Amino acid sequence: MIVAIDGPAASGKGTLAKRLADHLGYACLDTGLLYRAVARDVAAWGFRLEDPWAAVAVARGLDPARFEDPELRGAAAGDAASIVARIPQVRAALLSYQRAFARQAPGAVLDGRDIGTVVCPDADVKIFVTASPEVRARRRFSELDARGAGVAYETVLADILARDARDADRAISPLAMAADAMLLDTSNLSIEAAFDAAVGLIKRKI
Ligand code: C5P
Repeated sequence: MIVAIDGPAASGKGTLAKRLADHLGYACLDTGLLYRAVARDVAAWGFRLEDPWAAVAVARGLDPARFEDPELRGAAAGDAASIVARIPQVRAALLSYQRAFARQAPGAVLDGRDIGTVVCPDADVKIFVTASPEVRARRRFSELDARGAGVAYETVLADILARDARDADRAISPLAMAADAMLLDTSNLSIEAAFDAAVGLIKRKI
């Protein structure tokens, strides 16, 4: 059983994927972490993020045990990830790990940008999670503000719009809703309400 959750930055798809996986008793993979880890290691080796040779070498040797790094969760790591994510050979190198993860019993939830379209086109359930850029920026801003990051809302909104553009405009595996995905707009939903709505969508499919 494979549940594919796609959507733009700060749409709440990661939180939703984890809650669904707990609820269903499935494994969960945040595929953004793979791209974030590739960018981290390329930079740590002293290469430019745009260097395809370095990024592909890192992607091929990526160690899944090293994804749980709190540094990877920040906005800078996300921006860096979106640069290496444009390199077709990097995406290809990360495919087999994601597909093997998806095939485990009793099931798996994967969240990202291209799970329903490219990684698992045969997923049993596909949900495309979205929210307006302003709502996503407001949520991200509240998180950062609570941590005392001292960043302006306008800056957060500009970052989100820039990342949306990078992810939607790239030539390979752009952020896109699969034709057979169900749309979940969380603009006016709490986390709890979004979870309930997603469970309702899944029940319709299984
Ligand atoms: O989801 P997250 O914000 O962690 O993703 C970071 C970046 O990694 C995204 O902006 C996107 O460029 C890239 N990504 C991707 N395909 C995925 C997951 C993430 O291209 N399946």
